[in-house]
Amino acid sequence: MKTFARALCGAVSMIAVTAAAPALAEPKAEVLHYWTSGGEAKAVQALQEAFAARGGEWVDAPVAGGGGDAQAAVLRARVLAGDPPAAVQIKGPNIQEWAEAGALGDLTAVATAQDWDKVLPEAIQNIVKYEGKYVAVPVNVHRVDWIWANPEVLAKVGAEVPTTWEEFNETADKLQAAGIIPLAHGGQPWQDATVFETVVLGIGGTDFYRKALVELDMDALGSDTMIAVFDQMRKMRGYVDPDFPGRDWNLATAMVMRGEAAMQIMGDWAKGEFAAAGKVPGVDYVCASTPSDNGYLLNSDSFAMFNVSGDDNVEGQAVLAELILGTEFQETFNLFKGSIPARTDVPRAEFDDCAIKSMDDMVAAAEGGTLLGSMAHEIAQAGAVRGAFIDVATAHFNSDMSSQDAVDQLVKAIKLAQ
Ligand code: GAL
Repeated sequence: MKTFARALCGAVSMIAVTAAAPALAEPKAEVLHYWTSGGEAKAVQALQEAFAARGGEWVDAPVAGGGGDAQAAVLRARVLAGDPPAAVQIKGPNIQEWAEAGALGDLTAVATAQDWDKVLPEAIQNIVKYEGKYVAVPVNVHRVDWIWANPEVLAKVGAEVPTTWEEFNETADKLQAAGIIPLAHGGQPWQDATVFETVVLGIGGTDFYRKALVELDMDALGSDTMIAVFDQMRKMRGYVDPDFPGRDWNLATAMVMRGEAAMQIMGDWAKGEFAAAGKVPGVDYVCASTPSDNGYLLNSDSFAMFNVSGDDNVEGQAVLAELILGTEFQETFNLFKGSIPARTDVPRAEFDDCAIKSMDDMVAAAEGGTLLGSMAHEIAQAGAVRGAFIDVATAHFNSDMSSQDAVDQLVKAIKLAQ
């Protein structure tokens, strides 16, 4: 990705996206994103409406396909054609790489005007700054390591949402014996990787997760602990229904909602689906962090402003950058999206218990050194390394590959990807 982006953008210097001064032109923005499910679409609509209220002309450029891999290909093609969208929903190392290639605008002016340094957690600042300058505006914090469960279904086997992986397996075995699908899952590589990283976190622990998925420590990647991770992944494969291959993540969430399955392991964009369906947390569904030693797998969506020409586009970028981190919008958007605000000073009153738990757990994890970037969702890793993890996790999940073979393949794939 690095060489690709650099080759594309050459030495284009970072263009300053000024704070929304007296309008030079009617603000306009073509926005590339992949938020097309029920909850996601409502969140995007909130942004569109807020932009329109500022006189903005929103040009919607959605790319279906959860997890963003399809969108990434579209973005590369657009930049290759010398026609990047004004604003793009990208994350983590991808922001750094596009910034390094000189493709992104400099948001210092609006960041200074709104004092982003004061209201953004350090973990988020590190994602959206390049060489000390803000090059993207964060819109949320999503937590990945969640179990979404239907309490009525669990009650059928006298169970509650599991708090250890042993309990998860015992509960799943009871559900299966009762003819109930234990785990609703969509068989797509990024979803397999989402389950995989929560199992790494839970079976290996936060230190092991950091060594293996963040630091790419070869001893950790080839360890007996990673064997135990793949042993658990083999059990997880036994808990999904025969129709899981290719299923979209939000259709798996709907299975839990309808009581066709007991649980789903997915980031809290799944909460956006429950919210869109009018479901009440603690009544219609329960949220619980996947079992771990106080880990928190962080994902955060941002909008990067690509270098574009035209006063209307530049004005549109400035309005979006100012709008997205506004306190009111941060509340509106994240209530729909299922995430929590990127800003730390948004009132909590409107947020549900799951969101409050996420806010509190994130602070505790940051203080306790157990706040970790999601690999599956492009915070801890991106590009070829993330692809190597995903390839091995999904190959193992969709075959009868042994845990030892999976570990051997993982070590080889990560070595090759670096
Ligand atoms: C994640 C993204 C979330 C959500 C999810 C499913 O990578 O950060 O905002 O959209 O994919 O598409």
